[in-house]
Amino acid sequence: MKMGPLTKTELKNKISGLPRVSIACLPTPLQETPNLSKELGVRILIKRDDLTGLVMGGNKVRHMDFCMADAMQKRADVSLNINAWMSNNARIIGAASKKIGMDYICVAPDSKHRPIQGNLLIQDIMGAELHLLSTSDQSEIMKYTDKLETQLIEQGKTVYNHNKEHMSRSSATISYMDATLEIDNQLNQLDGIENVEVFIASGGAHGGLMLASSALELPWNVTGIIVGTPEESYADVVTWSNNALNHMGFSERLTWNDVVQLDSYIGPGYAIPSEECINAIHMVAELEGILLDPVYTGKVMAAIIDHARHGKFKDDDTVLFVHTGGLPELFNFSEELKRRDYK
Ligand SMILES: Cc1ncc(COP(=O)(O)O)c(C=O)c1O
Repeated sequence: MKMGPLTKTELKNKISGLPRVSIACLPTPLQETPNLSKELGVRILIKRDDLTGLVMGGNKVRHMDFCMADAMQKRADVSLNINAWMSNNARIIGAASKKIGMDYICVAPDSKHRPIQGNLLIQDIMGAELHLLSTSDQSEIMKYTDKLETQLIEQGKTVYNHNKEHMSRSSATISYMDATLEIDNQLNQLDGIENVEVFIASGGAHGGLMLASSALELPWNVTGIIVGTPEESYADVVTWSNNALNHMGFSERLTWNDVVQLDSYIGPGYAIPSEECINAIHMVAELEGILLDPVYTGKVMAAIIDHARHGKFKDDDTVLFVHTGGLPELFNFSEELKRRDYK
């Protein structure tokens, strides 16, 4: 599928026609990484979306500008969500809901005896109502959450159920179409930018960058790094991007063939860091003083390192690494991440 072409003004107008509330701190910095670039022999820029401003930041804060506007339009007074214990989405939806005055309830499967650490800790600190379930059975989880939703409705609440509202996920694609305009503007202020190789964890945001950069005919190649199961990644990129396109009134649709994704950096599985991911986290912390996370961005940086070490970048390439955040989960992986034992 080829979308567009669109002018920047046309895309900007399309996005500004959508309801929006200002939650994310934008624009985020686009930074050079002199030490990392020297080490890897290619210019690497980092888009610091770990600095979006709400409860330790991340890409999802951008989504909330559109998602929470939708919840406000629907006059919702409680956000209800099912999300895993390590979910950044849960933390950020929780914070954004609280910020606009809604209650927040999160059902977390398979987490009954999890340490209250990382994303769970932050949700607890902000006063979220956490339901830590022992089951990971999908039908039990749905039954539990449906019952919760029914009870809330009986109490007179207007529930924004993130598992049913498409804008909870379409907002990823929409907000990263917007981020494409922001990044393009920042790149235009730098010298020596020819071909831009964008690397990001594959998902809705990946879809947004890909759609907008191709519609604007920018010299970007957007590569999504799969960090979990490829089938789920298909849903993330294609389904949510198409919901977003539909919502914005575009007639084009994505298919899996349009999407450039690499599945060689998943490692042992979702939320199980590979050795390359851990090495990438150490390298970037040591060289640039920037933290990456062990579930998403560490694996994306592992892909960049691997490409650089195998000479896959050209002389006129600039690598743009989108740092999508996820930092609270560093603390759930201290055993894997620490460099040595201090005994
Ligand atoms: C740190 C981080 N990066 C990337 C993603 C992918 O997000 P999306 O599917 O919204 O693009 C997530 C999703 O949870 C995330 O937490």
